[in-house]
Amino acid sequence: MKAVRCVELGGPDKLEVAEVPVPEPGDGEVRLKVAGCGVNFADSLIIQGKYQHKPDLPFTPGMEVAGTITAVGAGVAALEPGQTVIGMTGTGGFAEEVVCPARDVIACPDGLDPVIAASLPVAYGTAHLGLDHRARLQPGETLLVHGASGGVGLAAVEVGKAMGATVIATASSADKLALAGEHGADHLINYTDGPFKDEVKALTDGRGADVIFDPVGGDVFDQSLRCIAWEGRILVVGFASGRIPEAPANLTLVKNMAIMGVFWGAYREKDPAVMTASFATLSDWLLAGTLKPLVSKTYGLDETAQAITDLMERRAKGKIVVTP
Ligand SMILES: NC(=O)c1ccc[n+]([C@@H]2O[C@H](COP(=O)([O-])OP(=O)(O)OC[C@H]3O[C@@H](n4cnc5c(N)ncnc54)[C@H](OP(=O)(O)O)[C@@H]3O)[C@@H](O)[C@H]2O)c1
Repeated sequence: MKAVRCVELGGPDKLEVAEVPVPEPGDGEVRLKVAGCGVNFADSLIIQGKYQHKPDLPFTPGMEVAGTITAVGAGVAALEPGQTVIGMTGTGGFAEEVVCPARDVIACPDGLDPVIAASLPVAYGTAHLGLDHRARLQPGETLLVHGASGGVGLAAVEVGKAMGATVIATASSADKLALAGEHGADHLINYTDGPFKDEVKALTDGRGADVIFDPVGGDVFDQSLRCIAWEGRILVVGFASGRIPEAPANLTLVKNMAIMGVFWGAYREKDPAVMTASFATLSDWLLAGTLKPLVSKTYGLDETAQAITDLMERRAKGKIVVTP
């Protein structure tokens, strides 16, 4: 079968597409024929050796897939060949077939296009788990979402609206902001026009945002410290800007606010029940039409490097998906 291979750490230009043996599922594993593999910012980090998880070389990147089960390993009772499922693979997804632990496989919501399904777990999982389980976002609160047209950002806009918040979205261009508006954002701010803290305060009668969802970090995080409400919660989701910011501890005291990390993938190991409950809610919202996931572009397996480059160069909107 064909698979994308990371044979040396570096940018997407170092990736190769190679013929490799079809993987056999071991105990507790299933093999999927990949219909789609969602592209994530983390893919750009893992191939450079800059992600938390550093797989041995050579490896195939690709963290989330949807497809059809083609084989099951020993001890897998609940899944069988022919079923369409979503798999949280961590790596291996940019390939024609991939092996995934059965415990990291969930049912594909009925009737959902597998290419859309492949775009869901990381973005919507992180958005919902972050806003609900971590920040305890309440109906009527104000949510500020940074990078609101990106994969996890656009999901956070939709999840925030589904949870009853007023959503302020930031992004770097008018068309990206328009997209956030189409997906439910109530207020739109271009954060490349200058400081956004005064605009956020003006939109919240001087209070600031109750919850800030930040996948960008850097200067955007620094300014968020200046427009968070009393008892507000800043969710540290990622650092797409390239700078990991620091926060003076006294600001947390003065505003009775919390800065909380969200590492969605860790729940697979540490507390899978939280993830299962989150997926159940997301699945209900999907079937009810509350969520409208956007896959703005698909790429062939041979175009995986281009897909990751588009993400790194801020050209992606919503999610992009590789369809082997
Ligand atoms: N903690 C977790 O569990 C978790 C889960 C998923 C993702 N993440 C993190 O969240 C971040 C976003 O991931 P994603 O997959 O949603 O990526 P994405 O689709 O590429 O979205 C990232 C957004 O960040 C903004 N951005 C600002 N400065 C940027 C820069 N210098 N380069 C690229 N983008 C920049 C872009 O919007 P503008 O052009 O509008 O600024 C872009 O839409 C990443 O840091 C990722 O590692 C964390």
